[in-house]
Amino acid sequence: MNVLENISLKPYNTFGIEARARYFASFSSAESLDGLLDQQQKSVTSDTWIWGGGSNILLTQDLNGWVLKNDCRGIEEVHEDREYVYVKVGAGENWHQFVQYCTLRNWAGLENLSLIPGNVGAAPIQNIGAYGVELRDTFLDLEAFHLKDKRIITFTNSDCRFGYRDSVFKQELKGQVAILNVTFRLKKHPVFHTSYGAITQELEKMGVQQLSIQAIAEAVIRIRKSKLPDPQFIGNAGSFFKNPEISAQEFNNLRQQFPDIVGYSVMGDRVKLAAGWMIEQCGWKGYRKGDAGCHEKQALVLVNYGHATGKELFSLSEEILASVKSKFGVILEREVNIL
Ligand code: FAD
Ligand code: EPU
Repeated sequence: MNVLENISLKPYNTFGIEARARYFASFSSAESLDGLLDQQQKSVTSDTWIWGGGSNILLTQDLNGWVLKNDCRGIEEVHEDREYVYVKVGAGENWHQFVQYCTLRNWAGLENLSLIPGNVGAAPIQNIGAYGVELRDTFLDLEAFHLKDKRIITFTNSDCRFGYRDSVFKQELKGQVAILNVTFRLKKHPVFHTSYGAITQELEKMGVQQLSIQAIAEAVIRIRKSKLPDPQFIGNAGSFFKNPEISAQEFNNLRQQFPDIVGYSVMGDRVKLAAGWMIEQCGWKGYRKGDAGCHEKQALVLVNYGHATGKELFSLSEEILASVKSKFGVILEREVNIL
């Protein structure tokens, strides 16, 4: 197994932050991961980070340990019944390419999650979501390798304890397992999810007469391209903060002071606030200091215009947090993993 030393992680994170890893290697199976962990135990440092596409990470320092890039490949149709097709996918497969693979075959359920960067193995970590759909809606189970116990464990949908941008892998099991593959249960007869406002408008603009999962995927791609920066040109990790949830009562109080505040009712008499709206109201949208900035079309997205450091972006996020707290009394939580 080829272990590289002292390598730059700049090509491996979509923020494009310069930081170095003491050791870097890829694995394509549980066996090769096991072999790397043996080598790691003999080395001076045992800190380990499992890596996907690096699209939800902010590097604020060099990593004095082992960065192990997941390169487990393969897409396999494992089972089929009247309603569903069951597809097992290697964690190292690119997420959007996998979504396209499914839409091409008319396997429904993932089309609203088109164009999300990163790999399949990271998708369950924060239960990726967009345009009214979350990973958990089609997730059957996954296999993960426990880094300390050195055994493969299967996690069902309920084992993962999925929540909004959350799972057991961001909580108790944080940094403890490497997801090897994920199995999805996809519908043969689609149920279309077009309730997220902008989708219907985009479909109309496209002149779509008859709904299809391909049309929805295309609408989602167009909307995303119109407002989210492409990491190939401007470094970013998508939404930097989560949309916070408050009680309906708290929302009504806030609305008295800020009549235009944007919020959506969610389960249990709660309201999810649009953090992007609050950040914009605090005057951050389009802000730039050096190469660290707040995107001009989407205030929830922090950007690296070239040579920003992770520390500069982190400190910008601290300033944003403080101003949202002071203006609205709401505490934002970071979505991006800070290393
Ligand atoms: P990485 O950034 O490499 O890793 C993220 C975390 O998961 C790290 O803690 C890492 O250690 C861990 N990890 C990665 N792979 C594994 C594995 N196989 N086993 C165990 N742990 C692992 N997210 C959304 O939910 N919805 C969106 O709409 C969305 N839009 C985005 C738009 C842009 C432009 C960008 C840049 C990001 C966006 N994201 C969005 C965030 C990001 O794409 C997702 O979080 C994605 O799932 C991250 O995948 P990755 O492979 O890049 O993970
Ligand atoms: N808004 C503003 N100003 C802004 C940004 C947003 O006023 O600068 C308002 C919009 O007008 C809209 C509302 O906020 O009324 C919501 O905006 P948008 O539809 O762009 O979505 P979002 O809440 O900002 C969330 C996810 C995205 C996901 C989209 C679509 C989170 C943290 N973010 O963003 O996920 O793609 O919805 O479903 O939940 C990610 O997680 O990285 C990510 C990009």
